[in-house]
Amino acid sequence: MNQSSATGAARFRALLPASDEEPGLATAYAYPGELTRPWLRANMVTSVDGGAWGPSGRTAELSAPADRAVMSVLRGQADVVLAGAATARIEGYRPVRPREVFTTLRAGRSATPPVAIITRTLDVHPDLLHQAPQDAPTIVFTTESAPEAKRREVSRVADLVVAGTESVRPEEVLSALAARGMFRVLTEGGPQLLSEFTSAGLVDELCLTVAPHLIGPAASRIVAGDAPSHTQDLRLRHVLESEGTLFLRYTAQ
Ligand SMILES: NC(=O)c1ccc[n+]([C@@H]2O[C@H](COP(=O)([O-])OP(=O)(O)OC[C@H]3O[C@@H](n4cnc5c(N)ncnc54)[C@H](OP(=O)(O)O)[C@@H]3O)[C@@H](O)[C@H]2O)c1
Repeated sequence: MNQSSATGAARFRALLPASDEEPGLATAYAYPGELTRPWLRANMVTSVDGGAWGPSGRTAELSAPADRAVMSVLRGQADVVLAGAATARIEGYRPVRPREVFTTLRAGRSATPPVAIITRTLDVHPDLLHQAPQDAPTIVFTTESAPEAKRREVSRVADLVVAGTESVRPEEVLSALAARGMFRVLTEGGPQLLSEFTSAGLVDELCLTVAPHLIGPAASRIVAGDAPSHTQDLRLRHVLESEGTLFLRYTAQ
């Protein structure tokens, strides 16, 4: 792939492993070869003081062109983009738009990855349900306790999966995606959803952007919520840098 088409105007340095050559993002973020089970990659951004969103309540203040270039590559590589319903509502999720970088990354697959939303309320923006391409319909994971009329309504326009009684079970999400041939799973959070997957020990990889800002105490951390406390050791795979923003890639030990 043409390196400039992958990164836009952003220039990256490889700090670890150190190299004088500009890193290729598609190579730096390649999934492990042939996957025989779902691989869950989380892509999150944090301020230097550990905040998961800016004063607006959104991540926009933490994002820079280089971060968006990485996000595009990660989305292009993914079979599905998975998010909690609050993130979808607050960040204004819509079906993923095609990007130039997707052309080579998605050869043989739908032009864009489908979005999958996890929700109890089924409060999902209509465009996410109605405007998705036919070959990448939005997947909605919900519970048996979700309002039945809404479940029927959503199932007419999206791929509705009931995956739990009161709460969607993280394991069932990955099984249902695998049953659809979706092994390269990219979750973009939010912190609450991420805590449920980390708590279940299901996160294989964390791509963490450290934005050069202090945000203050109002924002949550990137893993937050009511899921049981847990610890997981991670192995640092690479550190890239672009205009003061760090890009750290970790895998589960
Ligand atoms: N720093 C980052 O990288 C990053 C990434 C993403 C988002 N964010 C920020 O994080 C905030 C949103 O994140 P959040 O942690 O508050 O929420 P979230 O994880 O995005 O979404 C929580 C919602 O997801 C649904 N949900 C989660 N677990 C569920 C389960 N087991 N079963 C059924 N439904 C479930 C529920 O939706 P319903 O309410 O519809 O039932 C719940 O209210 C925003 O401010 C956003 O800007 C930051």
